[in-house]
Amino acid sequence: MAKIIDGKAISTQIKDELKEIVEKKKALGKQATLAVIQVGNDPASTVYVGNKKKACAYIGINSESYELPEETTQEELLALIDKLNADDKITGILCQLPVPKHIDEDTIIRRISPEKDVDGFHPMSVGALCIGEEGFVSCTPAGIMKLLEYSGIEVEGKECVVVGRSNIVGKPMALLLLRANGTVTVCHSRTCNLKDVCKRADILVVAVGKPKMIDDEYIKDGAVVIDVGIHRMDNGKLCGDVDYDKVVDKCSAITPVPGGVGPMTIAMLMYNCVNAIK
Ligand code: GUN
Repeated sequence: MAKIIDGKAISTQIKDELKEIVEKKKALGKQATLAVIQVGNDPASTVYVGNKKKACAYIGINSESYELPEETTQEELLALIDKLNADDKITGILCQLPVPKHIDEDTIIRRISPEKDVDGFHPMSVGALCIGEEGFVSCTPAGIMKLLEYSGIEVEGKECVVVGRSNIVGKPMALLLLRANGTVTVCHSRTCNLKDVCKRADILVVAVGKPKMIDDEYIKDGAVVIDVGIHRMDNGKLCGDVDYDKVVDKCSAITPVPGGVGPMTIAMLMYNCVNAIK
């Protein structure tokens, strides 16, 4: 029977550790303030943003909300980011994605000062990760590394397969596993023999965005399976990119959906916010 990796419990432990650090920093007169920008009112984004603000309150950092209308122009958004970049009180800036279609996401990501880039999306942050320098790391892959660490799962020397090559998850995930001395393969929509490649994995990270795509035929006996996906099924329940019921008896450890990777993303955002305090 697989070990169920409890992301909720691990994220709470991390947030509690951060809470103590924040208290100590406050005693030294240092305070974090996260500026959270949302353009438009995509319902999923509203939920994510709400959860991020709740996490800030839990660990004792300030959050400032900037809820902008859908029609906000790119210039207006850039002007707000410039203002927040220049404001010493603001230690972290997050612009919830996706932004409306008339705004260029890359331009927004690049405008946030790398010193306040708590999402870890700026090319400077990604470049620092790539060459092994310090910098903010994208929260979902950073959270997955913490899940492995807190679960006592060693990466060094392991065959690691990442399915998905997004800038936010797949690519930084591959770099983090490589940094931890894993042997890393990145798969994507054009990969031939995906099942065979996945079957090589001691550690399989799935971020494809397709409900229950990965079943037991993709899994080596005893593999560790990390499921980044989250989807609402017709029956109202949530599922991941992995067919949990088919895979759970074949692997040695697995993240559930919900309660696996999801809570870690916010915990690592808080981690970055705390590290952004000068
Ligand atoms: N949209 C979905 N995930 C994220 C995230 O981690 N950060 C931001 N800014 N937007 C997102």
